[in-house]
Amino acid sequence: MLQSAPVTDLENVTFAHPKKVSIFGATGSVGTSTIDLIKRQPNQFDVDVLTANTNAGELAQYAIQLKANLAVIADESKYQELQDLLKGTGIEVAAGESALIEAAGRPMDWMMAAIMGSAGLRPTLAAIKKGTTVALANKEALVCAGSLMMQEVRSHHSVLLPVDSEHNAIFQVLDEKQSSSIRRIILTASGGPFRCTPLHQMKEVTLEQALKHPNWDMGAKISIDSATMMNKGLEFIEAFHLFPVDQEQIEILVHPQSVIHSMVEYRDGSILAQMGSPDMRIPISYALGWPERHCFDQETLDFTELGQFTFEAPDLERFRALGLAKNALKTGKSAPAILNAANEVAVEGFLSKRIGFLDIVAVVDKVLEKAEFIELRSLEDVFYQDAKGRELAREVIKSF
Ligand SMILES: NC(=O)c1ccc[n+]([C@@H]2O[C@H](COP(=O)([O-])OP(=O)(O)OC[C@H]3O[C@@H](n4cnc5c(N)ncnc54)[C@H](OP(=O)(O)O)[C@@H]3O)[C@@H](O)[C@H]2O)c1
Repeated sequence: MLQSAPVTDLENVTFAHPKKVSIFGATGSVGTSTIDLIKRQPNQFDVDVLTANTNAGELAQYAIQLKANLAVIADESKYQELQDLLKGTGIEVAAGESALIEAAGRPMDWMMAAIMGSAGLRPTLAAIKKGTTVALANKEALVCAGSLMMQEVRSHHSVLLPVDSEHNAIFQVLDEKQSSSIRRIILTASGGPFRCTPLHQMKEVTLEQALKHPNWDMGAKISIDSATMMNKGLEFIEAFHLFPVDQEQIEILVHPQSVIHSMVEYRDGSILAQMGSPDMRIPISYALGWPERHCFDQETLDFTELGQFTFEAPDLERFRALGLAKNALKTGKSAPAILNAANEVAVEGFLSKRIGFLDIVAVVDKVLEKAEFIELRSLEDVFYQDAKGRELAREVIKSF
């Protein structure tokens, strides 16, 4: 199934100056990188909302530094703590999931969607429904709700700016007006910390080893997803929804240096790549400044020091997550939502040391075997399937 081309008339999007921005997931890895960039150019941005899950201390600190209007904490038990920390600052405080959704629906120019996991879906959709330009880091939302979410983007004339370095790279080099000329999209992958680890040793890897990504400094969940390569599987699904290509036109290529962030090949044989240091502030800066390019003083890449770029095919036997994700997309219906939910629960199980590293993908595989996929006709169906996938994953983990 080919996704329909241009989502919004990008040339007609304009912003107020300063840009009114909000960061959902402000205390995370993507959130703090976004804050770092905003602090470098305070006159360009007017910060409205900052959110976190449980980390009231950091949320309050950032809200004060950025002179935010509202700070929202998802965990209601942290409301009083946040309230006390922000007393006398004039910054409004709110807590709970409904407060998060309400805050996402406030009038704003730009929102960073950097909540981890499918918990980000409702607030992201609330912003989309207001026509807000959304910088999307939260790939799980798109994996779960795929076509339904893209339909909302179209009908509300919202813009999704991909923040994942690979999708941001493709966004930069893909000419939507020439979508019929695209031969393929090449999604690059670092291969993660276990790119060269034999399968029998992968069984024994520790949490600390799995969290240690060779090139990127990221939150815990995405670091584990990178180690299993489920991250690339989720990105495969994400690319399918974001860009006007068929599944067969998306290829995964391991490029351990993480300098070429992805490529687009056109039918005349030209291949356009976007390159840069493995620093998330580069794609975030692009999304923050879009449609202009803001200045971000990254150290210039020294190609002579890099020496060489290498490429290899992904090993589908050691990294079974890739096959599971591709199959889920091919199966369609609610399979990607179930895959994502099972993976979130399994990663949590590994992070809390209840299951081993190879069990993560085994849990996802078992859940996909057991689940009955349904057609996703509404967002309620998505949330129902997300809950179902989680329930099945918990049962599978118990049986281990
Ligand atoms: N990190 C990267 O380099 C990178 C690159 C590309 C894409 N992404 C994507 O960006 C998203 C965020 O990744 P990250 O690495 O920044 O994650 P992270 O460091 O774990 O941060 C997650 C953020 O979301 C908040 N959060 C977590 N669960 C929540 C919930 N149930 N309700 C509301 N807020 C919640 C956290 O608040 P607390 O701090 O209070 O827990 C934190 O602010 C993920 O979807 C990831 O795949 C990340």
